[in-house]
Amino acid sequence: MTHQHTKYTNTPTQQKMKYAIICGSHRENSQSVKVAQYLENRIKELYPEAETYLLELATANVPFWDPGVWAGEDKWKTIWSPIAAELQSSDAIIPITPEWSGMATPMLKNFFLLASGRELGHKPGLIVSVSSGRGGAYPVSELRTSSYKNNQICFIPEHLVLRFITDRLNETEAVDESDAITRERIDFALNMLHTYAEAFKGIRKQEHIYNDKFKFGM
Ligand SMILES: Cc1cc2nc3c(=O)[nH]c(=O)nc-3n(C[C@H](O)[C@H](O)[C@H](O)COP(=O)(O)O)c2cc1C
Repeated sequence: MTHQHTKYTNTPTQQKMKYAIICGSHRENSQSVKVAQYLENRIKELYPEAETYLLELATANVPFWDPGVWAGEDKWKTIWSPIAAELQSSDAIIPITPEWSGMATPMLKNFFLLASGRELGHKPGLIVSVSSGRGGAYPVSELRTSSYKNNQICFIPEHLVLRFITDRLNETEAVDESDAITRERIDFALNMLHTYAEAFKGIRKQEHIYNDKFKFGM
């Protein structure tokens, strides 16, 4: 029996690695944006050849999902196509969310509703959660449980919970030991993500993983 295949991306033929960073705070000038910019700069320092794409949901004006998405309405093509193109050419995904009332943000969950396997399928994801206090664990748990099924993003085992964030990542160099260990941990996670991203290029070349009959998981 032959299967129908929808190959999600052409990224395996790309030579350079591209990282998509999705900032889930609804607030402009948020701590999450500060983290997103730090990660983007750090990726460029660690991997000078790498390309980055930063999607700031606070300013991107992406509406909440409505049935027009599946009906292919022009409104949605205009809004989503440029974002989808950036994601399709990416090799690794970094969703960032503040912990809000013990949850990931609605805008980030909306992003995972809109993004399909064509954009995220079989790409490694590094979850980053942000808290001004001791929080940050709940959104990691939430995203690992419920945001991957239809889009088939693969969250790597390492994630980042960035606590007391208003005191961290503010200066060019670390200001104290807590700031230094935060930066060291970020490098560790980024290097792990990079390694997975290299390996996942090979995974996306395997034709048998693209089966339209079972494309939505169980
Ligand atoms: C609506 C709302 C709910 C919040 N709930 C939590 C929470 O449950 N746990 C927590 O650690 N911080 C909570 N915070 C504080 C955030 O950790 C803080 O705003 C931090 O700066 C991250 O959000 P930002 O990226 O929007 O700046 C909340 C903030 C807002 C605005």
